[in-house]
Order: sequence, then structure tokens, then C-alpha cells
Amino acid sequence: MTGPLNVLVGGGTGFIGSVLCNALKTKGYGVTVISRMPGPQRISWNELLSKGLPKDTTAVVNLAGQNVMDISRRWTHGFKQNVYNSRINTTKSLAKLIDEASVKPSVFVTMSGVGAYKPDTSKEYDENSCIVEFDFFSKLCKDWERAAALKLESQSSCRIVTIRSGVVLGRTGGMIRQLYLPFYLGLGGPVGDGSQYMPWIHIDDLISLIIFAIQKPTVEGVLNGVAPYPCTNKDFSNAFGKALHRPAFIPLPSFVLNLLLNKERAVMMTEGQKVLPKKTIAAGFKYQYPDIERACKEIVSH
Ligand SMILES: NC(=O)c1ccc[n+]([C@@H]2O[C@H](COP(=O)([O-])OP(=O)(O)OC[C@H]3O[C@@H](n4cnc5c(N)ncnc54)[C@H](OP(=O)(O)O)[C@@H]3O)[C@@H](O)[C@H]2O)c1
Repeated sequence: MTGPLNVLVGGGTGFIGSVLCNALKTKGYGVTVISRMPGPQRISWNELLSKGLPKDTTAVVNLAGQNVMDISRRWTHGFKQNVYNSRINTTKSLAKLIDEASVKPSVFVTMSGVGAYKPDTSKEYDENSCIVEFDFFSKLCKDWERAAALKLESQSSCRIVTIRSGVVLGRTGGMIRQLYLPFYLGLGGPVGDGSQYMPWIHIDDLISLIIFAIQKPTVEGVLNGVAPYPCTNKDFSNAFGKALHRPAFIPLPSFVLNLLLNKERAVMMTEGQKVLPKKTIAAGFKYQYPDIERACKEIVSH
């Protein structure tokens, strides 16, 4: 890329988005955040839709989405609709704006999740595995990925990269923020018997992967945003407990999560799939935290 490097980030105020924006600014990129809340260097979704992409936008990243694991929100039809619309509609709007822009950004990076792959105890999935709709999350992922589609003529100048992310592990948000206190108090442990896979990625690696997708012109299509060494839920709780120097033997029964979160949502923790980042590695991406022990040590070091 030549000239000014400006990235437009949907959901740039969130857990992943705020770390991404800081990393981009450190690297000299200009950053504009799309947010529902006003603020400096921000633009609202309505403003964006009426004015089009900001001038000189070289890359667009969408990280917007109603937090699925907000346990203060009941798993109602309305909440599910919000989870769905906040991802699909924002991604569709950005694809439309890219199609309409006279000067197109060179890349559009969008998110999806490993929920696209059906939980299985023996199968190994990579980016080439066939994905089918089998529950709410698999439909969400499929529609989310499809929402990023550009018109054919736009595709020749704007790459689309979709990151199917595992659980993002970082001190400032996501799953770790919810688990830190119970694990710190020695009350942590696996979910159920802990044998289910838990595809994961350290936040720093996910941010590097998004920037890698922005910078590398040969990268296109789906990349699995997961660490190269898969772990089970039990491996994670052992590693996290060990990093905190706390026992982590108290299991959280699946039925409790099913009752608290609703079975359809709890599936994200009670079941899992073995997902490998085959294409991500083949594209030349290098991980800073490839294994769960190193990732957990870094997270508790703050
Ligand atoms: N964290 C993970 O482990 C993980 C794993 C896989 C995939 N992902 C995906 O990655 C994306 C970012 O995750 P995150 O953990 O950073 O999420 P987050 O902290 O909850 O932030 C998401 C952002 O989305 C915006 N948002 C929330 N509800 C919205 C709505 N109804 N309409 C439009 N925008 C809305 C918010 O921005 P404003 O309030 O400023 O508008 C918020 O800052 C999400 O799409 C998530 O599904 C995350």
C-alpha cells in the first residue's frame, strides 16, 4: 500500500477493537472508529451510511457485535435477534459502502467464529472443511461470512479476509475477565468433564493476524484465528490455574451453565471442536503465543 494508511474499524471500542486500534496507531495508521456512541475520531453508523466511507480509507475491519456472553441479558428471541443483526447488518452495510465507493479500500477484514464447525470429539477442522448450518451459531457464522460479499467488480480491487476466531484470551475482556476472579480465588475448574476442545487465540496474536491480513496482499478468504496447539477446556483451566498458582479442580457442571445461560448459548462452553489454522500458517503467519501455557502466563503477568 502507498499513500496515507487509514483504517475504518466497526466496533473499535470493544475488547478486541480497542487493542487493535492502539496497535494500528502505534504502527502509524490513521484510525476511525464506527460506534453507536459519539467521541473523537469516531463516526456513527448513520453518519457513515449517509456520507459513505471516509476519504482515503485503505482498509475496513468489522468487529461490531452485541456481546453474546453478556450474562446480564436473557437468551430471548429479541436478544438473539440483536446478536444476529448487530453482526450481519453492520457487515452488510460496510460491504455496500465499499461497493459504492469510487476509490475502494484494498482490504475488508471481517470476523466469524469457530461456531461455524460442528462440535465433534474426533473430527479435525481446517479452513477447507465444509461448514453446514446445524444450530443458531452455525447459521450466524454462515450468514455473517456471506454478508461480507462484495459485488464482483469490487472484488477485483478489494480483498475480503474472514477470520473465524476461537475464544480470544486477554486480560482486558472476553472470557478471561469473567473467569479471572473465580480462578484467582481458587474456585475455578473445567466446564463439565473438560474433555471438549476449546479453540482459542491470545489477543496479541489475533491483533497481529488482523494486521497481517491488512498488510499481506496475497491473503484472501477464510483464516482460522486459533492457536496452532489446540487444547481442551480442562487443559485451559489447568494452565490458567497454574499460571495463577491456584488449584483449578472445581468443575462447573454443564447443567448449571445450561440453566444460567440457556442450553443453546451454553454450547459455546459445554461443547467444542478441534480447529487447526492450516491456511493461516501456510500464509506465513507467526504466532507469539502458540500454546496455552505461554498464553496464560502472559495474561496473568499484568
Ligand atoms: N471475544 C471473543 O472471544 C470473540 C471470539 C470470536 C469472535 N468474536 C467476535 O469479534 C467481534 C468483537 O468481539 P469483542 O470481544 O471485542 O466484543 P465487544 O467487546 O463486545 O465489542 C463489540 C463492539 O460491538 C459494538 N456493538 C455492540 N452491540 C452492537 C449493536 N447492537 N450494534 C452495533 N454495534 C454493536 C460495540 O461498539 P459501540 O458500543 O461503540 O457501538 C462494541 O464495542 C464480535 O463480533 C465477536 O462476536 C469475539
